[in-house]
Amino acid sequence: MSEARLEAWLDETRSFEPSQQFAASANAQPSIYVDAAADPVAYWRTQADRLTWTKAPTKTLEWDRPFAKWFGDGTLNAAYNCVDRHVEAGRGEKVAYHWVGDAEGESRTITYADLQKMVAQAANALSEIGVKAGDRVAVYMPMIPEAVVTMLAIVRLGAVHSVIFAGFSAEALASRILDSDCQVVVTADGAFRRGAAAPLKPAVDEALESCPNVRAVLVVRRTGGDVAWVDGRDHWWHDLVERQSDTHTYESFPAEQTLLIMYTSGTTAKPKGIFHTTGGYLTQVATTHYNIFDVKAETDVCWTAADIGWITGHSYIVYGPLVNGVTSVMYEGLPDSGGRDRWWKIIEENKVTILYTAPTTIRTLMKWGHQHPAAHDLSSLRLLGTVGEPINPEAWMWYREHIGSGRCPIVDTWWQTETGAIMISPLPGITSTKPGAAMRALPGIQVDVVDNEGKSVGNGEGGYLVITHPWPSMTRGIYGDPERFKETYWSRFPGVYFAGDGAKRDADGDLWLLGRIDDVMNISGHRLSTTEVEHALVGHRAVAEAAVVGATDETTGQAIVAFVTLKLSAEDAQKDQAGVISELREHVSRTISPIAKPRQIILTPELPKTRSGKIMRRLLRDVAENRPLGDVTTLMDPTVVNSIAVLMSESSGDEE
Ligand code: PRX
Repeated sequence: MSEARLEAWLDETRSFEPSQQFAASANAQPSIYVDAAADPVAYWRTQADRLTWTKAPTKTLEWDRPFAKWFGDGTLNAAYNCVDRHVEAGRGEKVAYHWVGDAEGESRTITYADLQKMVAQAANALSEIGVKAGDRVAVYMPMIPEAVVTMLAIVRLGAVHSVIFAGFSAEALASRILDSDCQVVVTADGAFRRGAAAPLKPAVDEALESCPNVRAVLVVRRTGGDVAWVDGRDHWWHDLVERQSDTHTYESFPAEQTLLIMYTSGTTAKPKGIFHTTGGYLTQVATTHYNIFDVKAETDVCWTAADIGWITGHSYIVYGPLVNGVTSVMYEGLPDSGGRDRWWKIIEENKVTILYTAPTTIRTLMKWGHQHPAAHDLSSLRLLGTVGEPINPEAWMWYREHIGSGRCPIVDTWWQTETGAIMISPLPGITSTKPGAAMRALPGIQVDVVDNEGKSVGNGEGGYLVITHPWPSMTRGIYGDPERFKETYWSRFPGVYFAGDGAKRDADGDLWLLGRIDDVMNISGHRLSTTEVEHALVGHRAVAEAAVVGATDETTGQAIVAFVTLKLSAEDAQKDQAGVISELREHVSRTISPIAKPRQIILTPELPKTRSGKIMRRLLRDVAENRPLGDVTTLMDPTVVNSIAVLMSESSGDEE
């Protein structure tokens, strides 16, 4: 981001005080900060009482830096905590999910009692195909209730789910299945997107050609139509699951039993299998959901508009709301499935009270115009949240005025796949809010902003965000690679967790998150590494070299710009430039996912390199964002970058 833009963004003078009316009945009261600061570990021990333990923990934190154990001698069952205990408490008729399909009019209502039966049947089915405690099961599913049921059934058995976003390609799916040696895959025949059926099962079939250890595939019928079938390996959900008993006796597992693996992009081409364990993760997702979203189990309807294939979906569509026993909306479609006012219809029809989404979506909805929300009754809303990337003040103000009628507090929540749950956010009713700032660390969480040497910066200064003390839902590591875990997060500043984000403390000491400072891009709230996309590009037979940067984009936050040199002769490439570019964009989409498709590809005869042969990405970022070029004296051939700048200015981009 350019300095001028950054300054305009960081208008620190605008601040909104919490309303007295909200404060009076808020779940979190001001004493929470004081109590937690007095003894953060003891604070988390009290929070663990939100769970029902088979054996209550006597230990809280065991810290062998950088490896933490929380509630280490406790035992519990995650699915029991999410479902059965609410039924036992007489709340079986409470709605767990209002599921809303892609097509208008298609919906399902699932109570906690329904969910208990569905999970029991699915757990029995998974047992029948040999899933047992500790096994990894890959989940590659659309946003349908069976996805939640599958996750809960897996953890009920003490097995581990690895949910892979259904937009990922067969290749990306295969690499994730292999990395954690999943032996069972749960999927669907397809998904609906704006009324059209998009197949999923063929990607699983293709992925499994290189995954010989997968012995069973469980397939939900969602879209209908023909699917290829491998007898003995593939099972229809409606055959295998629906004939099972709807009761299941659960076992209890240690608090540190692995609950889930979630792959995310780092700075290398290989995604990292971030894993979380049971007791600490569930404690923190429940606490944060309760305090930040101020949920009242009897009256609130929470809508986390995210996909279950990302950590936001795990923590705030599935585990947080279910542990707290609240009602959620789960929506299968796109923001404009059935029209540009679809979201507002969903809120009106389901009386949604709490809406949580990403800035990129807010910007898209804003672009479509406020006449759409204005045409609907959104008066049920009482709290709004954002996550995934820095939110620009324009979007924040639009969200506040046009969606929240100026009365709903906005919580800008900072966290990561690795942190498992929210770490920095205002608490509604207590903390004042500023458009664009995530404000302060939550009770029980200790963070700092440090300079290059690891020294704390003062108010009004920027630096690197670090987390200085362990927290319950912190990742316990990268699956199968403890060294990479230490190296990635714990070596930049010894002894503290390095988040990879830039941050600033304003004059009041409030926190502003400024985006990644490494080679990780944030495209529409999705994390992708520049190397991952470069790797895909050089995998194409026509490509000699590729350099990828994330450039600021008004809607998606950042967009991918790729600079590519070809193996073809300049004349050949010249003949069909548009064809080559479109082929390369499709190639990346096929290799990783449509979300990784570059917005622009610039074909250039050379890339700017230092005399030692390193590609100067910094300069390419300047070019991609139309900034004056910085220091070019270390370049082997300084004219290269100027010719790229000319090519860039001639390129129109391929935004869709
Ligand atoms: O750069 C930060 C950004 O998203 C990254 C984490 O991405 P991921 O693991 O995919 O998790 C996204 C959902 C939790 C962070 O390193 N980020 C997340 N929330 C915010 C944010 N940047 C600024 N403000 C936020 N509220």
